[in-house]
Amino acid sequence: MSERKYIVGNWKMHGTRAMLAEARAIDRSAERLIKVEVAIAPPFTLVHACRKEATLIGIGGQDCHHVEDGAHTGDVSAAMLKDAGAGFVILGHSERRANHGETNADVKAKADAAIAAGLNIIVCVGETEAERDAGKAEAVIAKMLAGSLPSGGEALTEKVTVAYEPVWAIGSGRTPTPEEIVAMHTSIRKQLVKAYGEEGASIRILYGGSVNAENTRELLADDIVGGALVGGASLSAESFLGIIIAAG
Ligand code: G3P
Repeated sequence: MSERKYIVGNWKMHGTRAMLAEARAIDRSAERLIKVEVAIAPPFTLVHACRKEATLIGIGGQDCHHVEDGAHTGDVSAAMLKDAGAGFVILGHSERRANHGETNADVKAKADAAIAAGLNIIVCVGETEAERDAGKAEAVIAKMLAGSLPSGGEALTEKVTVAYEPVWAIGSGRTPTPEEIVAMHTSIRKQLVKAYGEEGASIRILYGGSVNAENTRELLADDIVGGALVGGASLSAESFLGIIIAAG
């Protein structure tokens, strides 16, 4: 692995203030953070506290609304996330798409709002098992990307990261082979160049789905895999640091 990998922990709906100790412990492994760029996305309720506890790693949100403020009970805007100390937001995670009916157009609107608020974004895409079995995975991902990426062209490329998370690999203990990951990342790279021109070649593409300390080295071996979006194994500093070490 030659490039500096980007390892992002998605805490999903896990964590009370007791979890701040994990954020602190990850942040204190400073010498490892020279080799690997690290971030966590805690639930909204912990974003501000994590930003205060952890000063070296990135802190982000897991979703945002597409308008800045208004009568949207229960929602949080990109500007609010930014105000709470977030530097980025994960958008279009398959759990948002499946559980909240988010469409590509919704994700794009959120992406535009997040960029306007000064946040970087991680846009998630991934095929279901049925789509993969039907040989449609690349076409499905291409459509998701075309519909979900923010407008605005090449000036955005350093603010955008794409996460490829096959739905069937999330929390299942199953992963694609390294070759399948490289093939999909190559296809995504082509779509990004199509969307943003040559600048699209510099957009980071992460892999997500059942990443752990044992499989990190193999899954992230190719340079085209820019890092990992990690769920379950990011919930304790010990297991997350195992991934960080393997990625460095
Ligand atoms: O966003 C990360 C994710 O969906 C992967 O979850 O638990 O399979 O690492 P997990």
